[in-house]
Amino acid sequence: GDVTVLIPAAGQGLRLGGTLPKALRLLRGRTLLQHAVDRAAAAPSVSAIIVAAPPGWEEQVRQQLSWCPLVTVTTGAQNRQASVAKALALAPRADIVLVHDAARALTPPAIFEAVAAAIRSGADAAVPALAVTDTIKVVDAEGIVTATPQRENLRAIQTPQGCRADLLARAHAASFDVATDDAGLIERLGGRVKTVPGSHMAMKITHPADMEWAQHLLDTVGD
Ligand code: CTP
Ligand code: MG
Repeated sequence: GDVTVLIPAAGQGLRLGGTLPKALRLLRGRTLLQHAVDRAAAAPSVSAIIVAAPPGWEEQVRQQLSWCPLVTVTTGAQNRQASVAKALALAPRADIVLVHDAARALTPPAIFEAVAAAIRSGADAAVPALAVTDTIKVVDAEGIVTATPQRENLRAIQTPQGCRADLLARAHAASFDVATDDAGLIERLGGRVKTVPGSHMAMKITHPADMEWAQHLLDTVGD
């Protein structure tokens, strides 16, 4: 395979609550990180997976993932972008890189393949996208609405987000503040970001109710 997956998993999970970091929380007996790694490793194109673990939990994470020969574990950093940069630093010879949140633990292997395929077909970057169901408005600092973009032009963006490794490295080197996603850094460099169809299984686990929903998805849709 020509794909290296970087998994930022070092967040605390403050909105989820509880004592363990979010990536180490259990869903049907496996940690969210194990679920994410299982599915990334099942994508045929993936030949390496680099995990940025919560500081202090590296050894435990290494043991939990020891079944998978593709995995390397490093220590995460104080924000997501810095955790991604640390993982990227361990992949100097990577070709295509996919950055994937441990919090999107149930993302199916087919999404990894679709994002990688878009990069191979020439996109600078690619991201999974779903239509939004809410009307989204832009507001100012006082909460006054300043714009209402056409909903048919809006997408909710998931992970994995892909691009060539050298482009991601340049995007990180050029970043002057913290972006909420990796494709955003590529856009600032003028790169063309292609969307591929996302999946409801790629939902982000953020709040306690999301754990219930993820459990429900596992029970009904399966893995
Ligand atoms: N992440 C990371 N390093 C950080 C912060 C976040 O690697 N310093 C990772 C998280 O582990 C997660 C992904 O980035 O897989 C998306 O972040 P988010 O969903 O916000 O997770 P947390 O930061 O853990 O949650 P919260 O913001 O509620 O504390
Ligand atoms: Mg966070």
